[in-house]
Amino acid sequence: MALRNIVKDGDPILRKKCREVTEFNERLNVLLDDMKETLVLANGVGLAAPQVGVLKRVAIVSVDDAFYELINPEIIETAGEEISPEGCLSLPGICGTVNRPYKVTVRAQDRFGKTFTARGEGLLARAFCHEIDHLDGILFEDKIIDYYEEA
Ligand code: CO
Repeated sequence: MALRNIVKDGDPILRKKCREVTEFNERLNVLLDDMKETLVLANGVGLAAPQVGVLKRVAIVSVDDAFYELINPEIIETAGEEISPEGCLSLPGICGTVNRPYKVTVRAQDRFGKTFTARGEGLLARAFCHEIDHLDGILFEDKIIDYYEEA
């Protein structure tokens, strides 16, 4: 495993639409393992492949004891909404409130290509939405309602 460099705001790669993953191979495993190591060190909640310079539909989410690897993820159901603060490892120093669904159901593939669904609410739902947005070149700052000054 190896740490990957996190791409920061202003890099055009963060604005590109990612390609679907069609090959579930060792290269994908290495990417996922590297992303996990990078996320843990950065103490983040989620990380999407474009944030490490890879334009593939791959994201990971880590909230409390739950850890998800999402390949080709799609939000298939949402319920409710919640306005809450958010941040992003690619946008250091920026924090603001964003309106997200309170509950989401995601359909994705695992690293072996097997399809599964995951449900989340609150922070977990927010993290799913935030990371899936990254795969379409959407950054949370596009959706900020109120900016927070960092202490
Ligand atoms: Co982000």
